[in-house]
Amino acid sequence: MLLPPANWLPQAPLEHLHLDWLTSAGIEVAILRLDQIDPLISGNKWFKLVEHLKAADRAGAEGIISLGGAHSNHLHALAAAGKRLGFKTVGLLRGHAQETPTVQDLQAFGMQLHWLGYGGYRARNEPGFWEPWLAQYPQLYAVPEGGGGLSGALGCAAIKEQAQAQLATLGWSDYHGWWLACGTGTTLAGLVLAEAGVHPVYGALAVPEDHGVAPQVESIMQSAGLATAGYELIDASRGGFAKVDPVLLEFIEQTEQASGIPLEPLYTGKALLALKQQVEAGRFAPGTRLIFIHTGGLQGRRGFSASR
Ligand SMILES: Cc1ncc(COP(=O)(O)O)c(C=O)c1O
Repeated sequence: MLLPPANWLPQAPLEHLHLDWLTSAGIEVAILRLDQIDPLISGNKWFKLVEHLKAADRAGAEGIISLGGAHSNHLHALAAAGKRLGFKTVGLLRGHAQETPTVQDLQAFGMQLHWLGYGGYRARNEPGFWEPWLAQYPQLYAVPEGGGGLSGALGCAAIKEQAQAQLATLGWSDYHGWWLACGTGTTLAGLVLAEAGVHPVYGALAVPEDHGVAPQVESIMQSAGLATAGYELIDASRGGFAKVDPVLLEFIEQTEQASGIPLEPLYTGKALLALKQQVEAGRFAPGTRLIFIHTGGLQGRRGFSASR
């Protein structure tokens, strides 16, 4: 049994976000603090994992094998879930063996690691990639990079319910859209499925536009049998995935000082900075109410400051 008890998912608080640049534009933002749902399995990761765990259970698997980089939030959450719930985890890592705080945690949580090099990792989307791994680990269930695919997206539909259940506490009866960071687009696709066109979902791309987020979202929508409408992708990568610059770092620091909300530079910091730019460009009319999703990832900050 890989699944947590039925009441496994704590509520993420939904809070007003007070920042000068929002107030002066007359825009209201509420932030859904997925970073606060669990100290280890934080952010969008529980949501992305849960349907994969159910599928693994149905397949009679004893654990999960998945992929990621040396700072991967997904592998970190998966390894922590395996340790907490007592299932086996194997991680296939990009590049060559290195010690990052994330990798140290993966090992401490009992995840078995294999380093694929860069070429080996690039082969992850080729047909037959999983065959030798599943021959080596026949008792495991394979989960794609980042917990993606339709299963990952379906688990993220619950994010909408969590926010909607708390709107009244903010004095809101409705909202005009969502704003969140995208890496694979799975979390965004889950919200688009849940919204079914009622509210738009704006995805701030943490990866360059040629990283295939749009086709991945479209393929999820197609597997769900729905039209690919109701979302928009906005470039927020600032020159590449994991690339940082002084403007971004200063913005993160100022935001943290002004609001007390911790951000990291790969996803949440870039997503909020992209929102600021769009607000300042006059994209949203005064009175617009948006829900910004804090997708977590704060564990990755450690390796980031240590290695740069
Ligand atoms: C902190 C954080 N935010 C956002 C994302 C992007 O999520 P998705 O891959 O579902 O687009 C990720 C990656 O998984 C992440 O680690």
